[in-house]
Amino acid sequence: SQDIYILAIESSCDDTSAAVLHNDRVLSNVVANQDIHEAYGGVVPELASRAHQQNIVPVVHQALAQANIDKNSLSAIAFTRGPGLMGSLLVGSSFAKSLSLGLGIPLIEVNHMKAHILAHFIDEPGMKKPEFPFLAVTISGGHTQIVRVDDHFTMEVIGETLDDAVGEAFDKSAKILGLPYPGGPLIDKNAAKGNPKAFDFPIPKVGGLNFSFSGFKTSILYFIQKEVANDPDFIEKHMNDICASVQDTIIRILMKKIKKAVKETGINRVAIGGGVSANSGIRKAMKDAEKQLGWNTFIPKFEYTTDNAAMIGIVGYYKFLKGDFADERISSKARFAI
Ligand code: KG4
Ligand code: ZN
Repeated sequence: SQDIYILAIESSCDDTSAAVLHNDRVLSNVVANQDIHEAYGGVVPELASRAHQQNIVPVVHQALAQANIDKNSLSAIAFTRGPGLMGSLLVGSSFAKSLSLGLGIPLIEVNHMKAHILAHFIDEPGMKKPEFPFLAVTISGGHTQIVRVDDHFTMEVIGETLDDAVGEAFDKSAKILGLPYPGGPLIDKNAAKGNPKAFDFPIPKVGGLNFSFSGFKTSILYFIQKEVANDPDFIEKHMNDICASVQDTIIRILMKKIKKAVKETGINRVAIGGGVSANSGIRKAMKDAEKQLGWNTFIPKFEYTTDNAAMIGIVGYYKFLKGDFADERISSKARFAI
């Protein structure tokens, strides 16, 4: 068998990441997080681009050093073409193009949403690969999609959010409660100590397998404003119960559509990915579905579930096997269908 070494670059949002893969195994996966956005309560595109430019070379150096391979042994460079923030994508693609030119090796373009899904195929102890066909549910600060996956390169989005992503629903709710960004993990932590049925928030009515979270966020805002008008200490007194109720509602919104997708497709293999798959409520809901509904569920290792270059590398590997290389004039795409 062939020895393929892929250097992968991910820079679609606020994390600069580089990874080296030997075939479908990850030798290194370095991620530089950008703390600067915390003070702004969300990702500031201009600051993200600058931070990528500062981080990209050191991150690539570190990925090569940790993998203990010389850049001259690389077979190809894979990079995220989109979707994402244009200024952030341009940093990664320009760097990848220059390096592929310098080393005289092929360039491979990768769709970030496909990568979240193919992350399940990284060969690593403790991770099981889903059999085709399966349903991939990608839930993060930027995305909320249900995708029917028939093979590595045949996939179809069957449901997605019409407005905010599920991670944004967590983060915006947290912001209303005065929690720092990103608030998702803090809601999860507080929820563990609260009663999920303490407060009742409406489940949005959305057609088909699509989602909407903007009305949900507004209902939390109005609820909190009303309660705080009566009792200025309301949030402090009920923080854990509010977090538990918010989380419970978001999970019910998600599970309702995932169950509907399973029913409509007859596929009961469900693979989740994206930063929100770290949430303990969604993990428990998946375990319950395995026990009660006979599903087979898949959750990758945490480092492959948030934005990372290893997932770009695994797509790079499969594309390398097909000889599917990018033209050197290829341009980034802020919007890029799966
Ligand atoms: O995949 P990711 O690191 O970046 C992208 O957005 O692409 O996902 C980050 C999102 C944030 O919205 C964060 O609040 C959310 O994932 N998140 C969580 C948890 N851990 C991360 N949301 C709820 N519970 C968690 N435990
Ligand atoms: Zn992502």
